[in-house]
Amino acid sequence: MSGRSRVIVALDTHSSVEAMALVDRLGDDQDFYKVGLELFTWAGPELVSSLVDRGKRVFLDLKMHDIPNTVSRGAKAAAELGVDMLTVHASGGAEMIEAARDGLGDDTRLLAVTVLTSLAGEGLGEVWGRPVSSVPEEVLRLALIARDAGADGVVSAASEAPRVRASVGNDFLLVIPGIRPAGTDRQDQKRVATPAHAVRSGADYLVVGRAITQADDPAAALQSMVAEVTAAGGRRG
Ligand code: C5P
Repeated sequence: MSGRSRVIVALDTHSSVEAMALVDRLGDDQDFYKVGLELFTWAGPELVSSLVDRGKRVFLDLKMHDIPNTVSRGAKAAAELGVDMLTVHASGGAEMIEAARDGLGDDTRLLAVTVLTSLAGEGLGEVWGRPVSSVPEEVLRLALIARDAGADGVVSAASEAPRVRASVGNDFLLVIPGIRPAGTDRQDQKRVATPAHAVRSGADYLVVGRAITQADDPAAALQSMVAEVTAAGGRRG
Protein backbone atom coordinates (compact mmCIF):
# COMPACT_ATOMS: atom_id res chain seq x y z
CA MET A 1 0.00 0.00 0.00
CA SER A 2 1.43 3.39 -0.98
CA GLY A 3 1.88 6.24 1.50
CA ARG A 4 -0.88 8.18 -0.22
CA SER A 5 -3.46 5.42 -0.04
CA ARG A 6 -2.97 5.32 3.74
CA VAL A 7 -3.91 8.97 4.29
CA ILE A 8 -7.66 9.52 4.73
CA VAL A 9 -8.60 13.19 4.45
CA ALA A 10 -11.46 14.21 6.78
CA LEU A 11 -14.00 16.34 4.91
CA ASP A 12 -15.26 18.23 7.95
CA THR A 13 -17.14 20.89 5.98
CA HIS A 14 -20.64 22.37 6.03
CA SER A 15 -21.76 21.51 2.52
CA SER A 16 -21.14 19.30 -0.46
CA VAL A 17 -19.99 22.33 -2.42
CA GLU A 18 -17.19 22.97 0.06
CA ALA A 19 -16.39 19.27 0.30
CA MET A 20 -16.18 18.80 -3.45
CA ALA A 21 -14.09 21.96 -3.85
CA LEU A 22 -11.58 20.42 -1.46
CA VAL A 23 -11.65 17.11 -3.32
CA ASP A 24 -10.95 19.02 -6.55
CA ARG A 25 -8.07 20.88 -4.94
CA LEU A 26 -6.46 17.69 -3.70
CA GLY A 27 -6.60 16.15 -7.15
CA ASP A 28 -7.07 12.71 -8.67
CA ASP A 29 -4.33 11.01 -6.70
CA GLN A 30 -6.07 11.46 -3.35
CA ASP A 31 -8.70 8.77 -3.28
CA PHE A 32 -9.69 8.21 0.37
CA TYR A 33 -11.98 10.59 2.29
CA LYS A 34 -13.73 10.55 5.64
CA VAL A 35 -17.31 11.76 5.93
CA GLY A 36 -18.32 12.28 9.55
CA LEU A 37 -21.41 13.33 11.44
CA GLU A 38 -21.13 16.98 10.55
CA LEU A 39 -20.93 16.67 6.78
CA PHE A 40 -23.30 13.70 6.65
CA THR A 41 -25.92 15.68 8.56
CA TRP A 42 -25.49 18.66 6.26
CA ALA A 43 -25.12 16.93 2.94
CA GLY A 44 -26.48 13.39 3.40
CA PRO A 45 -26.13 10.25 1.33
CA GLU A 46 -26.06 12.21 -1.95
CA LEU A 47 -22.65 13.55 -1.05
CA VAL A 48 -21.39 10.05 -0.27
CA SER A 49 -22.73 8.82 -3.59
CA SER A 50 -21.05 11.71 -5.43
CA LEU A 51 -17.71 10.77 -3.89
CA VAL A 52 -18.17 7.09 -4.76
CA ASP A 53 -19.21 8.03 -8.31
CA ARG A 54 -15.95 9.94 -8.64
CA GLY A 55 -14.04 6.80 -7.75
CA LYS A 56 -13.24 7.88 -4.18
CA ARG A 57 -13.19 5.52 -1.22
CA VAL A 58 -15.32 6.72 1.68
CA PHE A 59 -14.80 6.16 5.38
CA LEU A 60 -18.27 6.86 6.80
CA ASP A 61 -17.58 7.80 10.40
CA LEU A 62 -21.07 7.76 11.91
CA LYS A 63 -20.05 5.99 15.14
CA MET A 64 -23.29 4.05 15.29
CA HIS A 65 -24.56 2.99 18.73
CA ASP A 66 -28.12 1.68 18.96
CA ILE A 67 -30.04 -1.57 19.31
CA PRO A 68 -28.67 -4.34 17.08
CA ASN A 69 -31.59 -4.31 14.63
CA THR A 70 -31.28 -0.58 14.02
CA VAL A 71 -27.51 -0.72 13.64
CA SER A 72 -27.79 -3.64 11.25
CA ARG A 73 -30.20 -1.71 9.05
CA GLY A 74 -28.09 1.43 9.20
CA ALA A 75 -25.01 -0.58 8.28
CA LYS A 76 -26.84 -2.13 5.34
CA ALA A 77 -27.72 1.34 4.09
CA ALA A 78 -24.06 2.38 4.37
CA ALA A 79 -22.96 -0.68 2.42
CA GLU A 80 -25.48 0.09 -0.29
CA LEU A 81 -24.05 3.58 -0.59
CA GLY A 82 -20.77 1.92 -1.50
CA VAL A 83 -18.66 3.11 1.42
CA ASP A 84 -15.38 1.40 2.17
CA MET A 85 -15.43 1.69 5.99
CA LEU A 86 -18.05 2.35 8.66
CA THR A 87 -17.66 3.01 12.39
CA VAL A 88 -19.73 1.75 15.33
CA HIS A 89 -19.08 2.13 19.06
CA ALA A 90 -17.51 -1.00 20.55
CA SER A 91 -19.35 -0.19 23.79
CA GLY A 92 -22.61 -1.09 22.02
CA GLY A 93 -21.59 -4.68 22.76
CA ALA A 94 -20.83 -7.85 20.85
CA GLU A 95 -24.39 -8.42 19.67
CA MET A 96 -24.58 -4.93 18.20
CA ILE A 97 -21.22 -5.30 16.46
CA GLU A 98 -22.25 -8.68 15.03
CA ALA A 99 -25.45 -7.07 13.76
CA ALA A 100 -23.43 -4.32 12.09
CA ARG A 101 -21.24 -6.97 10.48
CA ASP A 102 -24.32 -8.80 9.16
CA GLY A 103 -25.84 -5.62 7.81
CA LEU A 104 -22.64 -4.52 6.11
CA GLY A 105 -21.82 -7.77 4.36
CA ASP A 106 -18.28 -8.62 3.36
CA ASP A 107 -17.31 -5.74 1.08
CA THR A 108 -17.35 -2.93 3.64
CA ARG A 109 -14.89 -2.80 6.49
CA LEU A 110 -16.27 -2.42 9.99
CA LEU A 111 -14.29 -0.32 12.46
CA ALA A 112 -15.03 0.05 16.15
CA VAL A 113 -14.49 3.16 18.21
CA THR A 114 -13.25 2.09 21.64
CA VAL A 115 -12.92 4.99 24.09
CA LEU A 116 -13.49 8.52 22.82
CA THR A 117 -10.30 10.46 23.43
CA SER A 118 -12.45 13.29 24.78
CA LEU A 119 -13.68 10.98 27.57
CA ALA A 120 -10.44 9.40 28.64
CA GLY A 121 -9.57 9.65 32.32
CA GLU A 122 -12.00 10.75 35.01
CA GLY A 123 -14.88 11.23 32.58
CA LEU A 124 -14.79 7.54 31.72
CA GLY A 125 -15.00 6.42 35.36
CA GLU A 126 -17.92 8.79 35.85
CA VAL A 127 -20.02 7.40 32.99
CA TRP A 128 -19.17 3.78 33.69
CA GLY A 129 -19.70 4.11 37.44
CA ARG A 130 -16.47 2.42 38.41
CA PRO A 131 -12.87 3.55 38.72
CA VAL A 132 -10.87 3.30 35.52
CA SER A 133 -7.22 2.90 36.38
CA SER A 134 -5.89 2.35 32.87
CA VAL A 135 -7.51 3.78 29.76
CA PRO A 136 -5.22 1.73 27.45
CA GLU A 137 -6.44 -1.44 29.20
CA GLU A 138 -10.05 -0.42 28.54
CA VAL A 139 -9.21 0.38 24.92
CA LEU A 140 -7.65 -3.05 24.50
CA ARG A 141 -10.54 -4.82 26.21
CA LEU A 142 -13.04 -3.14 23.88
CA ALA A 143 -10.84 -3.78 20.84
CA LEU A 144 -10.82 -7.50 21.61
CA ILE A 145 -14.62 -7.55 22.04
CA ALA A 146 -14.91 -5.80 18.67
CA ARG A 147 -12.51 -8.17 16.95
CA ASP A 148 -14.24 -11.25 18.33
CA ALA A 149 -17.61 -9.89 17.21
CA GLY A 150 -16.41 -9.48 13.62
CA ALA A 151 -14.97 -5.97 13.36
CA ASP A 152 -12.08 -5.49 10.95
CA GLY A 153 -10.29 -2.92 13.08
CA VAL A 154 -10.48 -0.04 15.51
CA VAL A 155 -9.97 3.68 15.57
CA SER A 156 -7.22 4.38 18.08
CA ALA A 157 -5.04 7.20 19.36
CA ALA A 158 -1.38 6.74 18.42
CA SER A 159 -0.53 6.45 22.12
CA GLU A 160 -2.61 3.28 22.49
CA ALA A 161 -1.90 1.75 19.10
CA PRO A 162 1.29 -0.23 19.90
CA ARG A 163 -0.41 -2.02 22.76
CA VAL A 164 -3.46 -2.84 20.67
CA ARG A 165 -1.30 -3.98 17.77
CA ALA A 166 0.71 -6.28 20.01
CA SER A 167 -2.46 -8.03 21.16
CA VAL A 168 -4.63 -8.14 18.06
CA GLY A 169 -2.08 -9.23 15.47
CA ASN A 170 -1.32 -7.83 12.07
CA ASP A 171 -4.59 -8.47 10.27
CA PHE A 172 -6.63 -6.11 12.42
CA LEU A 173 -6.77 -2.55 11.09
CA LEU A 174 -5.65 0.41 13.17
CA VAL A 175 -6.91 3.79 11.99
CA ILE A 176 -5.32 6.75 13.76
CA PRO A 177 -6.66 10.33 13.87
CA GLY A 178 -5.18 13.31 15.68
CA ILE A 179 -2.32 13.76 13.21
CA ARG A 180 -0.25 16.93 13.23
CA PRO A 181 2.99 17.57 11.34
CA ALA A 182 5.84 18.25 13.76
CA GLY A 183 5.89 21.82 15.05
CA THR A 184 2.30 22.72 14.12
CA ASP A 185 -0.66 23.75 16.26
CA ARG A 186 -2.52 20.95 18.13
CA GLN A 187 -5.80 22.94 18.03
CA ASP A 188 -8.34 21.14 20.23
CA GLN A 189 -6.66 17.74 20.01
CA LYS A 190 -5.12 16.57 23.25
CA ARG A 191 -3.23 13.53 22.06
CA VAL A 192 -1.58 14.17 18.74
CA ALA A 193 1.06 12.34 16.74
CA THR A 194 3.17 13.23 13.75
CA PRO A 195 2.49 11.15 10.64
CA ALA A 196 5.77 9.25 11.11
CA HIS A 197 4.98 8.52 14.76
CA ALA A 198 1.51 7.22 13.87
CA VAL A 199 2.98 4.89 11.25
CA ARG A 200 5.63 3.63 13.66
CA SER A 201 2.89 3.08 16.27
CA GLY A 202 1.23 0.57 13.95
CA ALA A 203 -1.25 2.64 11.92
CA ASP A 204 -2.67 1.18 8.76
CA TYR A 205 -4.46 4.42 7.98
CA LEU A 206 -4.10 7.99 9.20
CA VAL A 207 -7.11 10.31 9.39
CA VAL A 208 -6.09 13.89 8.77
CA GLY A 209 -8.39 16.88 8.85
CA ARG A 210 -7.36 20.41 9.60
CA ALA A 211 -3.62 19.93 9.05
CA ILE A 212 -4.56 19.54 5.37
CA THR A 213 -7.96 21.16 4.95
CA GLN A 214 -7.01 24.42 6.66
CA ALA A 215 -3.52 24.67 5.26
CA ASP A 216 -2.76 27.62 2.97
CA ASP A 217 -1.98 25.07 0.30
CA PRO A 218 -3.89 21.85 1.09
CA ALA A 219 -2.37 19.91 -1.81
CA ALA A 220 1.15 20.78 -0.66
CA ALA A 221 0.32 19.89 2.96
CA LEU A 222 -1.06 16.54 1.79
CA GLN A 223 2.00 15.94 -0.37
CA SER A 224 4.41 16.49 2.50
CA MET A 225 2.34 14.28 4.78
CA VAL A 226 2.32 11.49 2.20
CA ALA A 227 6.10 11.83 1.83
CA GLU A 228 6.51 11.49 5.61
CA VAL A 229 4.23 8.42 5.73
CA THR A 230 6.09 6.80 2.85
CA ALA A 231 9.47 7.51 4.43
CA ALA A 232 8.31 6.10 7.78
CA GLY A 233 7.41 2.85 6.02
CA GLY A 234 5.80 0.80 8.73
CA ARG A 235 4.26 -2.60 8.51
CA ARG A 236 2.25 -1.89 5.39
CA GLY A 237 4.42 0.76 3.79
O1 C5P B 1 -7.99 17.19 14.20
P1 C5P B 1 -8.33 16.87 12.78
O2 C5P B 1 -8.97 18.02 12.05
O3 C5P B 1 -7.19 16.27 11.98
O4 C5P B 1 -9.44 15.71 12.91
C1 C5P B 1 -9.70 14.86 11.87
C2 C5P B 1 -10.87 13.96 12.16
O5 C5P B 1 -10.56 12.95 13.11
C3 C5P B 1 -12.09 14.69 12.68
O6 C5P B 1 -13.14 14.39 11.77
C4 C5P B 1 -12.36 14.10 14.03
O7 C5P B 1 -13.73 13.90 14.27
C5 C5P B 1 -11.66 12.76 13.96
N1 C5P B 1 -11.27 12.19 15.26
C6 C5P B 1 -10.36 12.78 16.09
N2 C5P B 1 -9.98 12.22 17.28
C7 C5P B 1 -10.49 11.09 17.65
C8 C5P B 1 -11.42 10.44 16.84
C9 C5P B 1 -11.80 11.04 15.64
O8 C5P B 1 -9.86 13.82 15.76
N3 C5P B 1 -10.09 10.55 18.77
